[in-house]
Amino acid sequence: MPTSSSTLLLFGATGDLAKRMLLPSLYALHEDGLIAEDLRIFGTARSEHSDEEFREIARDALHEYLPEDRKYEGKIATFLGHLQYQPLDASTLEGFDDLAAKLGDISGGLSIFLSTAPFLFEPTIRGLQSAGLAGENVRIGLEKPLGNDLASSRVINDAVAGAFDEDRIFRIDHYLGKETVQNLMALRFANAMFEPLWNANGIEHVQITISETVGLEGRHSFYDDTGALRDMVQNHMLQLLALIAMEPPADFDSTSVRDEKVKVLRSLRPVTSDEMVRGQYGSGAVQGEAVKAYTDDLGDTSETETFVALKAHIDNWRWQGVPFYLRTGKRMAERRSEIVIKFKAVPHNIFAQRGGRLNSNRLVIRLQPEEYVRLMVMAKQPGMDREGVSLREVPLDLSLTQAFAKARRRIAYERLLLDLIDGDPTLFVRRDEVEAQWKWIDAIREVWRTESMTPQLYGAGSWGPSDSFDLAANGKVKWHD
Ligand code: BG6
Repeated sequence: MPTSSSTLLLFGATGDLAKRMLLPSLYALHEDGLIAEDLRIFGTARSEHSDEEFREIARDALHEYLPEDRKYEGKIATFLGHLQYQPLDASTLEGFDDLAAKLGDISGGLSIFLSTAPFLFEPTIRGLQSAGLAGENVRIGLEKPLGNDLASSRVINDAVAGAFDEDRIFRIDHYLGKETVQNLMALRFANAMFEPLWNANGIEHVQITISETVGLEGRHSFYDDTGALRDMVQNHMLQLLALIAMEPPADFDSTSVRDEKVKVLRSLRPVTSDEMVRGQYGSGAVQGEAVKAYTDDLGDTSETETFVALKAHIDNWRWQGVPFYLRTGKRMAERRSEIVIKFKAVPHNIFAQRGGRLNSNRLVIRLQPEEYVRLMVMAKQPGMDREGVSLREVPLDLSLTQAFAKARRRIAYERLLLDLIDGDPTLFVRRDEVEAQWKWIDAIREVWRTESMTPQLYGAGSWGPSDSFDLAANGKVKWHD
């Protein structure tokens, strides 16, 4: 069993992710007594600040991003007492010795979280190594993006592997920190009723949707260089797909779970051009508010996709012939992350002669914003019909929010930071997973390149370009709404 680190070091400690997510998450862990009283938290970034100034930055961030009912001044003050700061330009080796001197004794273990631009990963690793901050008792967490294709991700992975063994590298996909995503495994493997049907005999198709209402959110150049396929599908959507499709792991431990996920990722069939749709939002209205087109947001022309839909296939015994439809986009009608499993129809409709029409069962797993699992089943409408039988689809509902009403909804980073500090890599992405993901994504981009596939415009506030509906319709499928 790995032991908990007594020191945490955050790179990018004054950046947006740190302010919005990491500091509030650490505070939450402190508030719940989940981190040791003597855990030392060091922040580092390029800007010059004293410890006291960094605490002020952290205080402001907590005030801005914590919900009103959780701003306990006393607890915030004790939390801020954990924080120290050391300025550092990670692009040069200079400064890492000062950082090591500031950290002092790290014999109780050091966990490092890199929330910096990817071009800084390599120099940072070198700097850490040169200052003796990459020893056996040091682990490193890496925030995405880990490269922008297979080749560049290998460069990063090689650089990290030069200093850290794989079991000390924690690649972050924040979707894995979400309670509802972890719940997918509980749903599948803690219940007997789903697994017998969870294959090509029982399931007709699967849909995974992550739709967002937000647009660029100030990340112009990053997003325009990245696009929806690499920003969302390469990581979050493929992780969801892998959790849905994997074989039952022998154990809930990091090796068994990740072994099974990687098998799925490696079985993904290359997507053909008629199985993919690229889109870019034009102007429109999102939930009643007028919004500009992507290129106006960007202030430039662009062929970057803000939407992508794919029909994916997993070439193994379990999933032969079962398409997985994926779609994700910005500036869509609603914010929603959802998985829909459509089961096969009953073999024979005994109600047909009496006008009873059947829909196949669907299992709807809503990850956000609401959290529920809903099984759509057919039921007889109450009534004394003499001639026919009226049947209706009704939900068997499990609202996780209600069932666990007392549990506070946590930020995904709370789980991930705690696991990093504790050294549990189960919810982090292993190198072979990332590389299998990139391989599949690169092949899609290659089709775009060779076939000169440009994005189709869709109105902001809609459910995406018309081709994405055709993609589903050609497979005799309707996107779930
Ligand atoms: C990030 C993407 O990884 O995930 C963002 O870079 C996206 O573009 C975000 O908005 C979505 O995360 P969540 O947790 O809000 O669904």
